[in-house]
Amino acid sequence: MLIVENLSLRFGGRKLFDNVNLKFVPGHCYGIIGANGAGKSTFLRILSGELEPTTGEVFLEKGRRMSVLKQDHYAFDKYNVLDTVIMGNPRLYEIMKLKDELYAKDDFNDEDGIKAAELEGEFSQLNGWEAESDASKLLQSLSIPEDQHFMMMSELNGREKVRVFLAQALFGNPDVLILDEPTNDLDIKSVSWLEEFLINYQGSVIVVSHDRHFLNNVCTYIADVDFGAIKLYTGNYDFWYQSSELALTLMRDQNKKKEEKVKELQAFIQRFSANASKSKQATSRKKLLDKIVIEDIQPSNRKYPFIHFKPEREAGNDILLLDDFCAEYEGEKVIDRLRFTVNKGDKIAFIGNEHGISTLFSILAGEGEALSGLAKFGITITREYFPKDNSVFFENCNLSLIDWMRQFSKDDSENYIRGFLGKMLFSGEEALKSANVLSGGEKVRCMFSKMMLTTANFLIFDQPTNHLDLEAITALNNAMNDFPGNILFTTHDRELAQTVANRIIEIKDDGSFIDRPCTYDEYLEMNL
Ligand SMILES: Nc1ncnc2c1ncn2[C@@H]1O[C@H](COP(=O)(O)OP(=O)(O)O)[C@@H](O)[C@H]1O
Ligand SMILES: [Mg+2]
Repeated sequence: MLIVENLSLRFGGRKLFDNVNLKFVPGHCYGIIGANGAGKSTFLRILSGELEPTTGEVFLEKGRRMSVLKQDHYAFDKYNVLDTVIMGNPRLYEIMKLKDELYAKDDFNDEDGIKAAELEGEFSQLNGWEAESDASKLLQSLSIPEDQHFMMMSELNGREKVRVFLAQALFGNPDVLILDEPTNDLDIKSVSWLEEFLINYQGSVIVVSHDRHFLNNVCTYIADVDFGAIKLYTGNYDFWYQSSELALTLMRDQNKKKEEKVKELQAFIQRFSANASKSKQATSRKKLLDKIVIEDIQPSNRKYPFIHFKPEREAGNDILLLDDFCAEYEGEKVIDRLRFTVNKGDKIAFIGNEHGISTLFSILAGEGEALSGLAKFGITITREYFPKDNSVFFENCNLSLIDWMRQFSKDDSENYIRGFLGKMLFSGEEALKSANVLSGGEKVRCMFSKMMLTTANFLIFDQPTNHLDLEAITALNNAMNDFPGNILFTTHDRELAQTVANRIIEIKDDGSFIDRPCTYDEYLEMNL
């Protein structure tokens, strides 16, 4: 058990946390959510002891071990991969080194013998004999093959290191596991494996993530960091989102009688419990959900951007046809004889080779040339493109946000444009900021406003969720679901892919493709 008492933190004059009291118990997974800069990473650093709070304390139950996912990619460069994983249990690693030193001594005396016996005892208590094979198994589960286990960490690339650090954090069954955005940079196979691992994990997990699929699958509590407080809610992310939205509408609806509100909330809890009990982790989840009480449900005070794409005209029957389409990226063929026809209502998620997909999307958006083949849009189709890299729109641009938006608007009155900026949560003074000072997430919100202004009926999105917080991702997800036209998109957000796409096209590394009329999860089931 990990207990946080009267915790406050101040950075200079700014209060980040004020009097936070929480308990983290074994068998549960706590998903930490909150806006960019709310203090999620800082909170984890306090829990792990890396940072001293201004007031209050963190207690870890005696004899328990805490493990933290490492963020510094270079810290282990002079160790090999297998040792790096074993160092996840520092005491065990220390014993191994002490033993080696003792046995290497030329003048091994009686005293050394006693010392060695002690170390051997502790070593086997910590499952030392299985350490190497356990570490090796973890690495292989995360697709680090055996021939890399004795390589130096410095020889691995960033994505490989991330998986080794994850194995290090999980090694040797720690009692408390602290993970800050562990699914960033992981491939889908590793994310699925991690989800499964955490569902079956006996200790407490405390994890910051923007990945809704992950939060929904593994979390039994959501901890919301907002306005200096950290509030704990039972259930997963979807439950938190939907119940707090429902509570908000009920609260706004002043005329509703109290009993009626209670009934609505109860019905909601029941529906959620029924769905959750069908899922993989039914038993533990179910036990937990019995405990949800109405008072736990509180209206959200989060602000969601309002995203809505409305086509000016409906598309005809001819939408887009590709035949024998080939394209290159940096001299390499990344799309090879691609052919497909887009049907009415198709929302297609592209997965696989990212260079191939980005190249295809930019050509379809009219920003590049195919090597050969045909790509033909219907006469009624109007396109709008969200590029992965939006820097050309913002670099060296010192227009105010209002003037920036005016470039794309048919109606150039300030009121009209402010309306759009307001929907994207830029109000008042904010709308006068210069376009080149925006953060990554703010730029993406501007790009959505631009897309909303142009009223196209065919949308192309290349990784739209990068840099976005959970609120903006959820708002985008709803907008893509509601859009009546066609969408081609690619994303790392599994929930977005699963809930929007009715068709999947995989682009393989050799440029070949697979085209299936199914959901993302169905596709994974067939192909993982
Ligand atoms: N050492 C520090 N001194 C002053 N401010 C800091 C320090 N570390 C973080 N901050 C600020 O505290 C806030 C919370 O940061 P962080 O915990 O990284 O947020 P997030 O919720 O995005 O993980 C940010 O505004 C950040 O700039
Ligand atoms: Mg952070």
